[in-house]
Amino acid sequence: MLIDIKSMPLVAMEFMNETHTKDVEIINELFALVLAYEASPTLENKKRVDELYGDWFAHTIEHFRAEEVMMQEKRFPPYPMHKGEHEKALRLMDEVFREWQRDQDINILKKYMTEHLVPWLTNHINTMDTVTARFFQSETTPCAMH
Ligand SMILES: [Fe+2]
Ligand SMILES: [Fe+2]
Repeated sequence: MLIDIKSMPLVAMEFMNETHTKDVEIINELFALVLAYEASPTLENKKRVDELYGDWFAHTIEHFRAEEVMMQEKRFPPYPMHKGEHEKALRLMDEVFREWQRDQDINILKKYMTEHLVPWLTNHINTMDTVTARFFQSETTPCAMH
């Protein structure tokens, strides 16, 4: 297991926590496939890695999009900054995948996941997502509904 879900920070919006939990599940599953390929670099194992990486990418696009839609709806002022972090992360996910396709070196994925992804995700949820969720929550309290 790469990430213990219990170590992930919770934010004030349940829909965001649910997405983050699913994200961590996919990441852990992907990491297990990466290790399986490392132990046995067969075409079949590579196919499994590539397929799940694709699913994870699709899930991440949706994860970020849902937060961005709500930020726009609620007119969250630092929206461009939060969206910018999402775009950067998606770009890197894509670049890393292309590099792995080109070089067929599993260490590219392993290094990216252990050294970059885990600290990035923890930090992003701890900062951007936490502040954003708190803002959403303050905008949706019953007192705000007249
Ligand atoms: Fe998020
Ligand atoms: Fe986010």
